[in-house]
Amino acid sequence: MLDLQKIDQFYGDSHTLWDIDLEVKAAKCTCLMGRNGVGKTTLLKTIMGEEIIRSGKMIFDGQSIEGFKAFKRAGLGIGYVPQGRQIFPRLTVEENLKVAFEANAKQRQMPEWVLSLFPILKSMKSRLGGDLSGGQQQQLAIARALVSEPKLLLLDEPTEGIQPNIVKEIGEVIRRLIDERGMTVLLVEQKLQFVKQVADQFYILDRGRNQINGDIESLNDDMIKQYLTV
Ligand SMILES: Nc1ncnc2c1ncn2[C@@H]1O[C@H](COP(=O)(O)OP(=O)(O)O)[C@@H](O)[C@H]1O
Ligand SMILES: [Mg+2]
Repeated sequence: MLDLQKIDQFYGDSHTLWDIDLEVKAAKCTCLMGRNGVGKTTLLKTIMGEEIIRSGKMIFDGQSIEGFKAFKRAGLGIGYVPQGRQIFPRLTVEENLKVAFEANAKQRQMPEWVLSLFPILKSMKSRLGGDLSGGQQQQLAIARALVSEPKLLLLDEPTEGIQPNIVKEIGEVIRRLIDERGMTVLLVEQKLQFVKQVADQFYILDRGRNQINGDIESLNDDMIKQYLTV
């Protein structure tokens, strides 16, 4: 579904991503892990086209996309929920969602299946985005990204600062997107329990480089100690 080969990225003179390889399999959840500052968010931004790579290849659905602008990648079916959610605080829930489907040529109205994944958003549709709890904002941000029915959904730390019961709900939604709708998910996440609940595959980055990857069942305590705990 998505295949990254030897990705190098720089912020100015600062070499941030080194020779990254990553394979995201269709209809699976691949989890990108690593401590703060190793380059996880940067890698998602390069996939979305928000940061430019210096070298490397990106193949999405059989097509080289590394030269494409962000909007074109979105049009091909890549959806993105950035770290920190970034919903519109002064728009209502309904308006936040409307912005997404009005920006989308294919979608004339809010897809019912998206709302049915997040019943809470239906009952809060007139509330301001900024008045929602962190967990509700995250659900809104995910719903907004789903409006365009992406084939590949990029999620950057969706559980950051969220109460445990909503973390669990978000995990269930991610699994349903994969198991019921065949969606492919690339998740950046640090909470181990959550990762084990939702992921099929994992990749660990350290200082901008690939360290180790495999089936989620093979993620062991030594790896966690070496690359994930502070
Ligand atoms: N816009 C930017 N300009 C310059 N350096 C950046 C920028 N964004 C992130 N960085 C740096 O790149 C490195 C990787 O950051 P990031 O991708 O956000 O890491 P992570 O998401 O794994 O915590 C860090 O050293 C960070 O300070
Ligand atoms: Mg980050």
